[in-house]
Amino acid sequence: MARLDELARVGAIEGGGVCRLALTDADKAGRDLVVSWMTELGLAITTDRIGNVIGVRPGAQPGPPVMIGSHIDTVATGGRYDGNLGVLAGLEVVRVLDEHDVATTHAIAVGFFTNEEGARFAPDMMGSAVHQGALALDDCLAAVDRDGLRVGDELERIGYAGDTECGDVRARAFVELHIEQGPVLERDGIAIGAVDSVQGISWTELSVEGVSNHAGTTPMSMRHDAGWVAAEMTTFVRDLANELGGSQVATVGVIDLGPNLINVVANRARMTIDLRNTDDDILREAERRTFAYADEIAEAEGVSLSRRTLARFAPVTFCAEVVDMVEAVATEQGHSVTRMPSGAGHDAQMFAPNCPAGMIFVPSRGGISHNVNEHTDPDQIEAGANVLLEVVLRLATEAN
Ligand code: GLV
Ligand code: MN
Ligand code: MN
Repeated sequence: MARLDELARVGAIEGGGVCRLALTDADKAGRDLVVSWMTELGLAITTDRIGNVIGVRPGAQPGPPVMIGSHIDTVATGGRYDGNLGVLAGLEVVRVLDEHDVATTHAIAVGFFTNEEGARFAPDMMGSAVHQGALALDDCLAAVDRDGLRVGDELERIGYAGDTECGDVRARAFVELHIEQGPVLERDGIAIGAVDSVQGISWTELSVEGVSNHAGTTPMSMRHDAGWVAAEMTTFVRDLANELGGSQVATVGVIDLGPNLINVVANRARMTIDLRNTDDDILREAERRTFAYADEIAEAEGVSLSRRTLARFAPVTFCAEVVDMVEAVATEQGHSVTRMPSGAGHDAQMFAPNCPAGMIFVPSRGGISHNVNEHTDPDQIEAGANVLLEVVLRLATEAN
């Protein structure tokens, strides 16, 4: 809890939240602090070429570590727990094992992965995706933010362009403790979520080019209004998500209009669409209908429209043995527990295809996250960290 408080002071914003967008000066300061803690704990630290930092505590046998990991970058209006909890709970696991002189068969590692949030550079889960071979290193180093700054240059600038090849520190298994970021655990009065899956994520940027003209003189029938197209798409995806039902969600989080003046028809719109579903077939259907409608209204309005995929990750199922283990350990420790999917993306999903991986959720007050008011009580955090400790111990002492 002390480390969570201290890390939350780096990039602190009004209301108790945090702004540590990936690869900014604040992210560097947060990284430096966590690396200093890893050093104090005697971990063998490597930084790879996409800036992932991994500290290893050796085991009795050689071979890949059981990895505990998450991220310490935040959205611009972030809270203090999203990502940070998983990394700092990992450090606490190491400290507890050290204090009790516990040697494990297999090594244990704690890692934080670059740009999980995707709020500055797309896609999200960038560092863990490159680490696990789901995305190409060079494509990600070339990704730019809204100001045209490159991931590769920003990594160099903050001193985290490491020389270890991505994926050199392999994971024998991967476990991530995270806040739920949704309302289910609190609503149902349950302490621990045994996360069994992560829903698919589709991020698209639409750019619309119309014609700016006088707001007073241009007849409605003669407009080529990029702002109207953006507004129409916003309501379309919301209606579509309601119609599809189930886990389908749809969000327009960014609309930039140009020239952005009261009495000028907008000639430019840049907007983002975030679609998610646990069922990839329905997610594809949502994408198909969204893109078809965008083309249809662009043509009707006489504007041009281009589309760019910013992120596309299929739904992921976590390893049944790890999910069972989280559930069993939580029950043995006297906690209520339920299996649940994750609505948010996480680093653990990138590991899931390649090694046994799983996640532990703890409740989020009011279901609030990506918001300065994100909160989880200390006793809820303690419960999650104890489940993490025991799960990691079991995985790190398994015979093979
Ligand atoms: C990452 O936090 C995401 O799910 O958008
Ligand atoms: Mn997160
Ligand atoms: Mn997040």
